[in-house]
Amino acid sequence: MTEPTDFGVRIAGVGSALPSRVLTNADLEKMVDTSDEWILKRTGIRERRVVDPDHESEFTLARDALKNALDDASLKVGDLDLLIHASTTSEMTCPPNACRILAALGETETGAFDMIAACCGLVYAMNIADSLIRSGRFRTIGVIGCDELSRITDYEDRSLSILFGDAGAAMVLARDDDPSVGCMYQTVSSDGGRWETLYLPVQERDVPEWDRDNPIRLGCLRMSGQEVFKFAVSKFRETINDALEATGLTVDQVSQFVCHQSNLRIIDAAKQKLGLPKEKVHVNIDRIGNTSAASVGVVFDELWKAGKVKRGDHVVFVAFGGGLTWASSVWKI
Ligand code: COA
Repeated sequence: MTEPTDFGVRIAGVGSALPSRVLTNADLEKMVDTSDEWILKRTGIRERRVVDPDHESEFTLARDALKNALDDASLKVGDLDLLIHASTTSEMTCPPNACRILAALGETETGAFDMIAACCGLVYAMNIADSLIRSGRFRTIGVIGCDELSRITDYEDRSLSILFGDAGAAMVLARDDDPSVGCMYQTVSSDGGRWETLYLPVQERDVPEWDRDNPIRLGCLRMSGQEVFKFAVSKFRETINDALEATGLTVDQVSQFVCHQSNLRIIDAAKQKLGLPKEKVHVNIDRIGNTSAASVGVVFDELWKAGKVKRGDHVVFVAFGGGLTWASSVWKI
């Protein structure tokens, strides 16, 4: 549980950015041995968005998402004390994209760093930002979750290429006079013993023994789909249960469960086991696929813009991903 402080943390602004190109199941049918019917039935995905490399990238999506969140908060980039950018697909590791994003928006002397927690990136970043603001050292922090998974997807691998899309999402978190608002409870967890179930080999030596005889494309994700599926179904349930138990909130008292969009069957399994009503679990995977670090942020942005989250509401964010990692963040908005 979050230690009490004299002030709280509010979500001052939310934004997202989607790339221009639409990649439908029909398009994938022309690229790999698959069908619209199979993809829809096994994943719930109809289409996803991917960047046009001529004018879009992880960087432009992250920059635009942050700009939209700042506009939503009626703040300028110079109002930020810190920017945390979570991504598995930054163009370069040096400089951190966080620094370039600030510079592109007109600010060059603010704290900025990149971090990687795969699909948990934004939830990890929100938890870190809330803790830093509550420490009293920072007042306003930008957090971004953004990924261009199309750049690290092997479009000859039909079990993986059907899942992923590109997107960016951002929030501006700010110190608030009301101590009751902000993150009430958070978890940041991982099990590195299971890293091989979802990994990105960069060099030959990164490929584990059991995977060496398979056709590997260095620089592209490898995934043991069924293992990740089982992990996700049980972790979703455990993580949401844990969040409810720790905070004492009931399902009725939570206005939205903002879930990582990995596979509609994974979300539906959690909904069923926990008895979560349909209207409290927003789904956009059918339109944009699994967008990794951006996923929960785009869901939240859609809810925010639709007026489905109001001040005083309780919202549970939950994600899981490569690492393996999983995380939760329970907020009073
Ligand atoms: N089109 C048609 N057939 C496909 C296919 C595709 N795109 N992908 C796999 N298949 C085939 C397999 O080859 C297998 O054929 P076989 O029975 O002849 O061997 C069959 O479909 C079943 O494969 P399986 O892997 O058991 O399917 P699944 O129901 O587990 O679905 C995933 C595969 C990847 C959709 C599913 O495991 C999943 O979503 N896992 C979690 C992934 C995830 O969330 N990753 C991100 C974490 S953040």
